[in-house]
Amino acid sequence: MSQHNLIQRYSASERSNHWLVAICFVLLALSGLALFHPSMFWLTNLFGGGQWTRILHPFIGVLMFVGFIGMFFRFAKHNALNQNDSAWLGQLGDVMAKREDKLPPAGKYNAGQKLLFWVIVVTMLVLIVSGVAIWQPYFAPSFAIGTVRLAVLLHALAALILILGIMVHIYAAFWVKGSVRAMTRGTVTRNWARKHHRAWYDEVTQGRTK
Ligand code: HEM
Repeated sequence: MSQHNLIQRYSASERSNHWLVAICFVLLALSGLALFHPSMFWLTNLFGGGQWTRILHPFIGVLMFVGFIGMFFRFAKHNALNQNDSAWLGQLGDVMAKREDKLPPAGKYNAGQKLLFWVIVVTMLVLIVSGVAIWQPYFAPSFAIGTVRLAVLLHALAALILILGIMVHIYAAFWVKGSVRAMTRGTVTRNWARKHHRAWYDEVTQGRTK
C-alpha cells in the first residue's frame, strides 16, 4: 500500500503505552481470576504458584494504573461526549447493521468508544482505591474490617465490568476491519478514516489533498 494512502493515527509512544497497559491487563485478569474462585486457581501455575500470584498481582495493578494515567492524558480530550454522540447512540440499529452512512460523522472516536473509555476510567479508579485497601501486608491492616470487606466486593465488581468492557473492546477492534493496524503499525487507510471517523478525517486532512 502506498504511503500516500495512509494516515497516522497513533505515535510509537501512544502505542507502547497502550500495549503496556494491555499486557498488564491480561496478567491481572488471569492472576485475579485465579484468586477469585478455586475453580480457576490452576491459573496460579502461570505466576509461580499461589503465593507468587498473590504477591505479584497488586504490583502489576499499580503498573497498569500508572500506565493508564499516561493513556488518560493522551486520549481524554478525544473522548469528550457531544451532541453527535447522543444521536449516534440513538441509532444503535444502524451501528449494528454497519449502516455508517446514516450515522452522524464520528470524530477520532465514536460514541461507543467514548463511553467505553469512561467506563475504563471509572473502573480503574475503583480498582486502584479498593486494591490498596485490601493489599496485605502493607495497607489493609490500617483499614477497618468493614471497609476491607466492602473494598473486596467493589474490587471484584469493577474487575468484572472492566473484563467485560475489554472483551467488547477487543471484539470491536477486529469487527471494524483495518482498526488493529492503527495500534500495531500506527497508521490507517484513508478509506478507513473516511468511512468510520469522517469528522476526524476531515480534521486531519484539512488543507491537504484528499
Ligand atoms: C488486549 C487486547 C487489546 C486489543 C487487541 C486492543 C486494540 C485496540 C485498537 C485496535 C485500538 C484503536 C482503536 C481506534 O483507533 O479506533 C485501541 C484503542 C484503545 N484501547 Fe485497546 N486493545 C486491547 C486492550 C486494551 C486494554 C486492556 C485497554 C485498557 C484497559 C485498552 C484501552 C484502549 C483505549 C483507551 C484506546 C483509545 C480509544 C479511546 O480513547 O476511546 N485497550 N485498542
